[in-house]
Amino acid sequence: MVMLDEDLNILWANHTSREAFGDNIENKKCYEAFAGLDQPCDNCVAQKCFKEGYMQEREINLKKGNNLRYDFWETTNAVSMNRKGFPKTIITVFRDITQRKALAAEAMRAGHLASIGELAAGVAHEINNPINSIINLAQIILNEDKKKDQPNDIALRMINEGNRIAEIVSSLLAFAKDNKKTKMPLNLKEVLDKTFALTKAQIIKSGIVLDVDLPSDLPSIFGHMQQIQQVFLNLINNARFALNHKSFTKESVKTIRIKGCVEKIKEQLYLKIIFEDNGPGISDKVIDRVMDPFFTTKTGGQGTGLGLSISHGIISDHEGRMKIESCEGEFTRLIISLPAGDRS
Ligand SMILES: Nc1ncnc2c1ncn2[C@@H]1O[C@H](COP(=O)(O)OP(=O)(O)O)[C@@H](O)[C@H]1O
Ligand SMILES: [Mg+2]
Repeated sequence: MVMLDEDLNILWANHTSREAFGDNIENKKCYEAFAGLDQPCDNCVAQKCFKEGYMQEREINLKKGNNLRYDFWETTNAVSMNRKGFPKTIITVFRDITQRKALAAEAMRAGHLASIGELAAGVAHEINNPINSIINLAQIILNEDKKKDQPNDIALRMINEGNRIAEIVSSLLAFAKDNKKTKMPLNLKEVLDKTFALTKAQIIKSGIVLDVDLPSDLPSIFGHMQQIQQVFLNLINNARFALNHKSFTKESVKTIRIKGCVEKIKEQLYLKIIFEDNGPGISDKVIDRVMDPFFTTKTGGQGTGLGLSISHGIISDHEGRMKIESCEGEFTRLIISLPAGDRS
């Protein structure tokens, strides 16, 4: 909560707003303190309140001092009037609605994923067989041509593109499968070690340092080994790709940090696993879409856009949560919480 004068100077700021935006916001202009701008934002509600004299409100997205973006509901109203009956000072209240918005988006995403799951189950099987036949037939053409000493570029491309379809289909199938029966108590360190076995060589080749911090007394989770491993693999591969697409100075080191800890939410113990990389981060323009099925920023067939949405689906199926935080140019952080315990 802050009090503003007609020139949009912050006359007074309460404890919460100083904590979120910095101790020195008093005496700054509100647009400097909250939005880092050198002039009022477009459709400024404070100016409108001064001009029209009555309460104004809007939704606004602002970066706090910790460099992360939050959604706020901003309400502005007059506290003292001048002789003409217009506001002389106003109070602006920012209510943090990030969590509420995230829950609404989560519900929508769950709906999206459920329909993708249905679609996948229906269609993927049907596509799998013919595409494998096409790959095999193209391989036969290629083999024949090799005998004739005439390499066939078209057959090779058919195989590559065919493999790409096969990969998408198998991702969709993995997602659509109902694996409830095969869940078992899992030790996080074991699952991570199995994942590293698949990916360590590529990590080392890319010159990435893996910094793993897992306390030895973490409780187990009840889950599906292959699926959880697939989630970890997706996140590590995304981090590796991101790190390989940012230029690093000699002093800084490409790093993937994996940290495990326990947290208690409403009397239930959760295992929290954080994957953080110091890669290029994700721009505010697209961060809300990265978990959408088929959303990718990777060009030239390097991405399917399914990694995060499938991972999110798997974590939801394990009654867990997955969220993403990022600061462009600085870091990307994927945070997974899974219920701790040996059975669901
Ligand atoms: N660690 C990361 N750093 C930067 N961007 C990321 C990271 N992880 C995911 N992304 C962004 O999210 C998008 C979607 O990821 P994903 O669903 O795994 O699909 P894909 O990897 O096939 O593009 C990526 O294209 C990328 O833009
Ligand atoms: Mg991916």
